[in-house]
Amino acid sequence: MLMRAMPSSTDVKTGGIALHSLQKRYGAAMAVDDVSLSVSPGEFISLLGPSGSGKTTTLMMIAGFEMPDSGRVLLDDKDITRLPPHRRELGVIFQNYALFPHMTVAENVAYPLRMRRVPKAQLEARVNRVLDQVHLGAFAARRPHQLSGGQQQRVAIARALVFDPPVLLLDEPLGALDKKLRQHLRNEIKTLHRDVGKTMIYVTHDQEEALAMSDRVAVMHEGRIRQVSAPQDIYRRPADLFVASFVGEVNLIPAKLRSGVAHGPADETLAAPAWSDGDMDATLCVRPEHLHLGTGEAAAPGIQGHVTGMTFVGDATIVEFRSNSGLQLTSKVLNISAGAMLGVGDNCTASWATNDATILTE
Ligand SMILES: Nc1ncnc2c1ncn2[C@@H]1O[C@H](COP(=O)(O)OP(=O)(O)O)[C@@H](O)[C@H]1O
Ligand SMILES: [Mg+2]
Repeated sequence: MLMRAMPSSTDVKTGGIALHSLQKRYGAAMAVDDVSLSVSPGEFISLLGPSGSGKTTTLMMIAGFEMPDSGRVLLDDKDITRLPPHRRELGVIFQNYALFPHMTVAENVAYPLRMRRVPKAQLEARVNRVLDQVHLGAFAARRPHQLSGGQQQRVAIARALVFDPPVLLLDEPLGALDKKLRQHLRNEIKTLHRDVGKTMIYVTHDQEEALAMSDRVAVMHEGRIRQVSAPQDIYRRPADLFVASFVGEVNLIPAKLRSGVAHGPADETLAAPAWSDGDMDATLCVRPEHLHLGTGEAAAPGIQGHVTGMTFVGDATIVEFRSNSGLQLTSKVLNISAGAMLGVGDNCTASWATNDATILTE
């Protein structure tokens, strides 16, 4: 007789989240305004935005600690909008994660399993496994105050992982740590993401963190999602002026589009992607590392001006430029060779490659 293997639950990819027009108001203030987002099983997505942009409120509505005024939250196509947090089975790491100070590391991590009345043998096996995953096996008997900040953070992650949720929600988990440790831990979280294959929704106001960690980034501003894209696209093809300015440094060059050609402040022709939609005002976005300052006849058509400042910042030199029309621009030049550079006061032309500019017409 031929036996067919039953598909095991681990074959089925779970952990897809869909948000449909979520809205949440506190008094007169709209904290989250018509947020829709679809997150694939296993995806690492960041909610990136300045303080007050609605990131935490969005995450808390996914977790069930806040109820939306309207809209829906789906987990693997099941509507969980009205379920209490403990019935959603999502792992949550809060902004100000609090470990129980009187409990050991192992007891802290076991806590969610004890709440679920998991039998002792099974509980211990799971706690040990998850502590190994976050490299804290040797610290099981310690108390939180005997750990470094980074180790405490890993305990919080272990506690969120221990009941094997399909989705992990992380709210600025590295916010309280210093820069070096943050960089180290963000790599660890990335590695953990690859190892456990869970969906992760990661809230941060740190654009570098979001770009470095995520499959996709959702940029939030004033309760709304302004753009959802892969990190490269967020940086290279910002959808609006807010995204262009919030993520990385950018030169904003006012331009007029006429017959498919961009003209600068002094009516000079500017390199810009082809445009054919009639005449209008626009802004050209050019990153400092894409803005070239050149001298002589050979310099590409661009904006005439002179150098107003040079700042050595280690790996690069930041060159300030002022156009004859009064526009202030910034160029970033990597200090790869010790060759001759421009000096303050030198006349030069600011230019860029067509493909390195983004046209925004909002
Ligand atoms: N419990 C609350 N009561 C009143 N206003 C709140 C509450 N939580 C958040 N807000 C407001 O909602 C907006 C979004 O807050 P939040 O989601 O915490 O933003 P973020 O996490 O991006 O900093 C802010 O203006 C904030 O002041
Ligand atoms: Mg927040």
